[in-house]
Order: sequence, then structure tokens, then C-alpha cells
Amino acid sequence: MKTAYLAPRDFLDELLGELGEQTRIQAVHGRLVVTTGPAVSAAWAQNVWFDPKELRFESVGGAARALRSIQRSWALHSVVLHRRARLIAEKLPKVGGRRLAFPASPPSSPIGSFTLLEPDLMLASANCSSPFPNGEVEFVEDREGPASRAYLKLWEALTLAGAHPKPGERCLDLGSSPGGWTWALQQLGAQVISVDKSPLADPIARLPGVSFLKRDAFTLTPGAVGPVDWLFSDVICYPQRLLELVTRWLDSGLCGKFVCTIKLQGKAPGVQDRHAIRSLGQIPGSTVRHLYHNKHELTWTLLAG
Ligand SMILES: C[S@@+](CC[C@H](N)C(=O)[O-])C[C@H]1O[C@@H](n2cnc3c(N)ncnc32)[C@H](O)[C@@H]1O
Repeated sequence: MKTAYLAPRDFLDELLGELGEQTRIQAVHGRLVVTTGPAVSAAWAQNVWFDPKELRFESVGGAARALRSIQRSWALHSVVLHRRARLIAEKLPKVGGRRLAFPASPPSSPIGSFTLLEPDLMLASANCSSPFPNGEVEFVEDREGPASRAYLKLWEALTLAGAHPKPGERCLDLGSSPGGWTWALQQLGAQVISVDKSPLADPIARLPGVSFLKRDAFTLTPGAVGPVDWLFSDVICYPQRLLELVTRWLDSGLCGKFVCTIKLQGKAPGVQDRHAIRSLGQIPGSTVRHLYHNKHELTWTLLAG
């Protein structure tokens, strides 16, 4: 059995480092890493192709028919032979292209993935981890309301989690300035306690349901804030500090749902950073993954209670 992992653009090294510790890498096609054996956990994979098969074909039409005979929807990840690969994709039902208007559920029908390896040989997997073509989640963007584009990664995290704050729920947004996440949470009707050492953009600070605390997120104790339904953090800090903050909140029992960005410094995280990231990922029920809208950072999500 094989598994293929698609690295996010610019983050192939991170994925290779992660996979190299756990499994045997057989081949690398552009950003697509093929390994032997079953899937392992890979935070840096934008999409995982489970049990991909090599399929020989005689013509463009034959390739499209072979894929259609397996299932309806296929996303092309083109690495080589782009024109020929596109011709095959054009003979298949169109996938993607429709932007998601948040909040909305991800597409429910399965999307397979394929790539050409040679003119008459493709690698194809009918079963992939992401419901979006190549793991690329595109939203109908709001270019006026939010103070930064950071809200897109929050929308993506909530879409993939299949949950979002409901009207009236109490949300703590740590490291909130200039206010993209606070805006997104307020739009959902949540009561937002927005915390940063820097101020919010004026229009966000004036929104109903938003209260701003000019504070250091790390000295704000759960006891002082009281129960919250969700804790969000986009604070720039070492992973270890985030782990301590999250642990404090988990131990307090005052919050059960978390979406936190794990900020990374250099290209290769040090031992302490790796340990903290692993510890976050080991918190039962949680996930650590690189979102399509993440930069050099990961997102830790826990939905409990
Ligand atoms: C990436 S920005 C957050 C962007 C924000 N989520 C948005 O949607 O606009 C990171 C923020 O963390 C804040 N920050 C860094 N250290 C902090 C601390 N100790 N306490 C509170 N905020 C902090 C910075 O001031 C900065 O505004």
C-alpha cells in the first residue's frame, strides 16, 4: 500500500521532515510526496491521497473513462505534462471553482485526485482527506468589513471543524488586533472579548457585541474572564507559551472549544517547539494542521464539550 501527501505551496521541506520521521518516502513529484505504507499523521499535508494506484491508459479519453468508472469527481494536481493532464481533466465533471459563502458545510461528495507521471501513466486516488480539490478552500471574501485577511484561516478552521460559535456564545479572542477574527466572530452573533496589547481597528472596536481589553494574553487568567464557549488565539508566541496557555484553560474547565494558531519562527522548528507542537497534538480530540490559509504556522483545534 502507498499513501501520497500534498504539501502546501512553499512548505514541502516541512512535510518531508515530518514524514521522514515516520514512514519511507518512495518518490517526490513536485509537492506530492509518495510513501510506502498506510497514512501517518501529517500536519503539513494539505491533502492526503489514500491508497493511490498507478493506472496505465492509451488515450486522453481512455484516462478520463478509467477515472469516471471509479467515481464521478476528480481534481487534477498537475506536476508534469500539464497540457495532456488538462485535456483529461476537461473530459471529467468540473470540480471546484465555486467559492464557499461562510458559514457553509464543505462539499459532501468525495473528490479523488490524480496526476500524470508519464504520458500514459497516472497516479490516482479515489479517497482523499480533503473535501476540497487539492485541499484548497476558497471563500467568498468580504473586502470591506474585516480589518485583515486573517479571518480566512479562522473561517477555514471552523468550516473543517464543522462547527462555529452560535449567536450569544461567549468567545475570547486573544491576539486580536487589528480585528479580522473578532469581526468574523461578531458577524456570527457571538459576544466577543477581544484581547491584544495593540488596539483594534476603530470600526471593529465599535461593533456591537465586541468588548476590547488592552492586555497581555498570558497574564489574563481564566478565573478573571470566567466561562467562555470558545477560546481563539492568534497571538504571536512560541509554541511552548501557547501550550501553557491552553493547558491553563483546559485545567480550569472554563472552556471546551479552541482554535489556536501555532506560530513558527525559522524554517525548521527547534526541539522545544517540536515538543510543544507534539504535546498540543496529543491533547485528546484535537487536531494540528496546516490550513490552506495558514502561512508559516499551524492551527490547533479542539472541540470538546
Ligand atoms: C497575527 S496578529 C493577529 C491578527 C488577528 N487575529 C486578526 O484577525 O486581525 C498577532 C497579534 O498578537 C498580538 N500579541 C502578541 N503578543 C501578545 C500578548 N502577549 N498578548 C496579547 N496580544 C499579543 C500582537 O499585538 C498582534 O496584534
